[in-house]
Amino acid sequence: MTDLLLPRPTSYARVSLAMLTARSQTNLLGNVHGGEIVKLADSTAGAVAQRHSGGPAVTAALDEMLFLRPVHVGDIVRTDAQVNWVGRSSMEVGVRVETQPWNDPSQGTLHVATAYFVFVAIDSDGLARPVPDLILETDEDRRRHREAEIRRAHRLARKAAIEAERQDGS
Ligand SMILES: CC(C)(COP(=O)(O)OP(=O)(O)OC[C@H]1O[C@@H](n2cnc3c(N)ncnc32)[C@H](O)[C@@H]1OP(=O)(O)O)[C@@H](O)C(=O)NCCC(=O)NCCS
Repeated sequence: MTDLLLPRPTSYARVSLAMLTARSQTNLLGNVHGGEIVKLADSTAGAVAQRHSGGPAVTAALDEMLFLRPVHVGDIVRTDAQVNWVGRSSMEVGVRVETQPWNDPSQGTLHVATAYFVFVAIDSDGLARPVPDLILETDEDRRRHREAEIRRAHRLARKAAIEAERQDGS
């Protein structure tokens, strides 16, 4: 086994990013556009996937993003992301998004969104390549891993059902 495939703990690849939201990022209602939050979450998850896999990794799927509260102009948006689960070449990365008003730290942070991305590690030909196993370090890691397995099973079942429907329907 090469060093690149040595199992890595969840803490190894964890990443946090932050941005201060601006008027140029608003939607027609005056809140921050959901796409801006997706982009920040995708960038954070991408950094996690590259760190864990030790090389390039691409977004294969974003099949669940929960927006819990609106994000306002002037909020500091912070993402925290880590690998929840790994397969042969794919990884599920969970991202938690929190906000805090830029000018008032006494208000504390609000949980505004959660997203689950699937990244696939690729080689120089763009083909899927193996990723290191994941070492679960805490009870929280183990909970996230169990829940990621449920999401993985649903993803595969949904994909298979749609493919079967297309075969039958064609
Ligand atoms: C992601 C990609 C490399 C997968 O290629 P592929 O030929 O389907 O690869 P494979 O069939 O060998 O599957 C590789 C892994 O990806 C997983 N995978 C592929 N598509 C998936 C999907 N839609 N959802 C979840 N997992 C998926 C497979 O389950 C497999 O996981 P495993 O190796 O851990 O068991 C390819 O579809 C791709 O390059 N997509 C474009 C990605 C991109 O450019 N993203 C940025 C968009 S701007």
